[in-house]
Amino acid sequence: MFIQAEWKKGYATEITKSLLKYCFKILKVHRVCALCHPKNIGSWKVLEKCGLRREVHYIKKVKYLSNSGIHWEDELEYAILKEEHELLLRNTAIENWITAVPKPQTIGTKSINFLIQA
Ligand SMILES: CC(C)(COP(=O)(O)OP(=O)(O)OC[C@H]1O[C@@H](n2cnc3c(N)ncnc32)[C@H](O)[C@@H]1OP(=O)(O)O)[C@@H](O)C(=O)NCCC(=O)NCCS
Repeated sequence: MFIQAEWKKGYATEITKSLLKYCFKILKVHRVCALCHPKNIGSWKVLEKCGLRREVHYIKKVKYLSNSGIHWEDELEYAILKEEHELLLRNTAIENWITAVPKPQTIGTKSINFLIQA
C-alpha cells in the first residue's frame, strides 16, 4: 500500500514482479495466488500486468466489521503457474526484474499466497 502521491508510478507492478520471481526461482513454488477486492482496480490491474489470471470471483466472501455492523464483500482470486511465469520471462525478456534475493532458511510450503489489500 502506497501513499496516494505515489500511485500509478509502476511501483506495485515492479514489486509484484519481484515477488513472483522470488516465489518461483527461490522458493520454487509451482503456483502463486493473489486475492483482492473487485472494486480495487489498481490491485487487479497490477496482477494482470504481471501475468496473473483471474480465476474466481467469490460472492460475499469477506466479512467486514464496521460501526453499522457486519457486511460481506466479494473477492477476486488471481493465479499464475510456474510454467506460465517462465514463458512470460522468456517472451518479454524480463529476467532482469530483480538482481539478487536472499535464500530462505526453511520452506514450509510449496504453494504461497500473498495479498494485495489495504
Ligand atoms: C493498489 C495500489 C497498491 C497499486 O499500486 P501502484 O504503484 O499505483 O500500481 P502501478 O503504478 O504499478 O499501476 C498498475 C496499473 O494499475 C493502475 N492503477 C493504479 N492505481 C489505480 C487506481 N487507484 N485506480 C485505477 N487504476 C489504477 C495504473 O494506472 C496501472 O495501469 P496502466 O499501466 O494501465 O496505466 C496502490 O494504488 C495503493 O496503494 N492503493 C491504496 C491502497 C489500496 O487500495 N490497497 C489495496 C486494497 S485491497
